[in-house]
Amino acid sequence: LRQIKVNDDDFGMMSYDPAFKNTASTTSAVTYIDGANGILEYRGYPIEQLAERSSFLEVAYLLLKGELPNKGEYDQFVHDVTFHTYVHENMTDLLDAFRYDAHSMGTMISSVAALSTFYPEAKDVRDPENRWIQINRLVAKMPTLAAFAYRHHRGLPLVYPENELSYAANFLNMLFRIGVKEYKPNPVLERALDVLFILHADHEQNCSATTMRVIGSAEADPYSALAGAMAALYGPLHGGANEAVLRMLHRIGHVDNIPAFIKGVKNREERLMGFGHRVYKSYDPRAAIIKRTAEEVFEVTGRNPLLDIALELERIALEEEFFVSRNLYPNVDFYSGLIYQALGFPVEMFPVLFAIPRTVGWLAQWQEMLEDDEQKIARPRQVFTGRERRDFIAMEDRG
Ligand code: ACO
Repeated sequence: LRQIKVNDDDFGMMSYDPAFKNTASTTSAVTYIDGANGILEYRGYPIEQLAERSSFLEVAYLLLKGELPNKGEYDQFVHDVTFHTYVHENMTDLLDAFRYDAHSMGTMISSVAALSTFYPEAKDVRDPENRWIQINRLVAKMPTLAAFAYRHHRGLPLVYPENELSYAANFLNMLFRIGVKEYKPNPVLERALDVLFILHADHEQNCSATTMRVIGSAEADPYSALAGAMAALYGPLHGGANEAVLRMLHRIGHVDNIPAFIKGVKNREERLMGFGHRVYKSYDPRAAIIKRTAEEVFEVTGRNPLLDIALELERIALEEEFFVSRNLYPNVDFYSGLIYQALGFPVEMFPVLFAIPRTVGWLAQWQEMLEDDEQKIARPRQVFTGRERRDFIAMEDRG
């Protein structure tokens, strides 16, 4: 704490906590993390059980509504999300305005922001029914916008939603369909993508969720706020680590090169990407599930030699005092990029694949924030370190 009270009207004591390392910005009932023991729960349900027994849309309902849906509620939610998968045709003109090689995440951020102009009624954020319609729209349209961005990047004709397919299968079809023939993913791959969506759906007050809450606290519409959250996720320190893991594994190239690589990490020449986490000081529970999913995917697609390098890297690292003493374990990004690659996604789609499921977490937190009477417009204070008051000097008198 530092006292920066400068006159009688000021607050007096306030905390100075750059990067909010020790500041709880809100109360929340959405996601629970116990970093010391590697526990992650959505609305009280362990992530392992949800990944094993649930589907992404069921988890989406849970995060957004607080309870698992019964059959009727689930069918209604699936219907509503499916109903909203199409985007206004003018969105394709927006897409055409981007350079042929535009990064899919950049295109997506702009597309999501542009959606606010199609739904001006979304500004009425205090109306719960109106909010629910916008939430359905966003959950439904994210895969469509992502697939459009991907196909634009490749110069391929757009594929429109097929609403009788599952959330994951429809997404894969919009991405990979060639000509008139529907892309039918292997059920193992379809399920793997659904599981990855479940694992990425929320992670409490991370950088992008905080961005969503901060923009939302000004009562901006959810499309604009979500575009901001996506921009935060686009940063390499947040949503880009799985790409860095793939680059690292390629560079190591062979299991024989691992000891030399580890030596370099211990000498602080570089970091072991996909290891360590600000909150988890034990095995990231999502990494354990993803590791198993990777094995299942590779049984279908054929084994990527990079998986063997990753497994051996983990084995050797976890025997090293350097990593053990610092509580450095694999995080969610260590194996996810390998699965995305096996499913046929180029590296530039990785942050997009993160943003689609995280949309649910962002919206759950946005909704919670608007329903919380304690929350006001986010407006932190500062500790001013600049110049004291001084008088203006005419330009001709300046040195
Ligand atoms: N490789 C080698 N050493 C590491 C690593 C790593 N991946 N991560 C942390 N360390 C070391 C640091 O050098 C430091 O050692 P020291 O105390 O001897 O100086 C100690 O562990 C603590 O590291 P910090 O950077 O202080 O930990 P912080 O909590 O700030 O950082 C972070 C967490 C950014 C995730 C870090 O572990 C890292 O850079 N990991 C690699 C990148 C990565 O995988 N990011 C994805 C995170 S998951 C997500 O965002 C979805």
